[in-house]
Amino acid sequence: MKIPFFVQEFTDEMEEAAIHALRNESFVGGESVSKFEEEFAQYIGTKYAVSVSSGNSALQISLMALGLNKDFTGSSTPSTKGPGTIITPTNSFIASANCIRMSNAWPLLADVSMEDGGIDMTSRKNENRFGLKWEKATSIIPVHIYGNPCDFDSVKSFADEQNIPIIEDACQAHGAEYKGKKVGSLGDVGCFSFYPTKNMTVGGDGGMTTTNNEETALKIKSIRDNGRKTKNEFDKLGFTMRLNTVNAAIGRVQLKHLDEKTARRREIVSIYRKNLVQNCILPENKDGKSVYHQIVLKHEKRDEIRKELTDNEIGSAIYYETPIHKQEIYQDYGFELPNSEKFSKLILSLPSYPQLTDDQALEICECVNKVIG
Ligand SMILES: Cc1ncc(COP(=O)(O)O)c(C=O)c1O
Repeated sequence: MKIPFFVQEFTDEMEEAAIHALRNESFVGGESVSKFEEEFAQYIGTKYAVSVSSGNSALQISLMALGLNKDFTGSSTPSTKGPGTIITPTNSFIASANCIRMSNAWPLLADVSMEDGGIDMTSRKNENRFGLKWEKATSIIPVHIYGNPCDFDSVKSFADEQNIPIIEDACQAHGAEYKGKKVGSLGDVGCFSFYPTKNMTVGGDGGMTTTNNEETALKIKSIRDNGRKTKNEFDKLGFTMRLNTVNAAIGRVQLKHLDEKTARRREIVSIYRKNLVQNCILPENKDGKSVYHQIVLKHEKRDEIRKELTDNEIGSAIYYETPIHKQEIYQDYGFELPNSEKFSKLILSLPSYPQLTDDQALEICECVNKVIG
């Protein structure tokens, strides 16, 4: 591809930090880990941040720490609200739902807004074969999809009404804001991914949880480390899902440059908005600030646009081609979520990475305009 959809970044600064950590610190649990956690918590505006091995593990461990997986932990206080039903939107990466099944709970998939692809809290009447009910949900996992904050007020008022915790899936939204607060600080726990395509990475897989609750933070720390209580005592089930020291060291470098990279992503989206002959880029939440992990256009001629881009050696991608409820493992639940199915046929992600030049962004616009003009 002349203009790839994604470019992996590895700078001298990342290399130096990695080598320094490998030479001078313990490979696991080195001081880079606690420093990265402190800096990330400060950046998001929470009291605590606990690093983990991926976004998926962040979600899964958070559910366990909040006691939402009663069958796995053997918790003595089973929920009175039903068989562990947890709401999450269908337009997301599969991990948003898998973490729920992996916790022995049932994903109650929500439809999404045709406007921006975020969770639509008015879609609660949707049918499903197993009779999963919104009123029986034990928690909700809204997703800040594409780096754009979801309509958090609608999620919060539902959660408050039902008295259930909110786990934010902020895996695509490092630094995004809603009403002046960073996502990941809005709910009970925030979950982030550092997978290489994300706005910041750790040079491999990695993740972070954020919370203001000390007990939750301590539980996450314990669960990521086999359920450890003290050096030789284990009081709960757990995994080996820690972040390696070398990855934390690289993460610290990436975090330092995150805001300048987000600023460049915002410049790129303005080039697209200004130069595309139709206003077809998904809008930013009016109460928030997107970090444009994905810059997504929505158009009836999506397939033609994609073909034109490919013919001109320009990368693009579809997030997500198949909504979660249509994936093999969830299709038997019988969800009918019509918006997400329409939406998935109209969307196309354009290159959004900070290294993209103005000229490249203009070339992309020219190509798209050939189809939509
Ligand atoms: C919305 C969303 N949730 C969860 C995840 C899972 O993160 P990871 O790939 O680090 O496990 C991702 C990342 O791919 C994601 O985009």
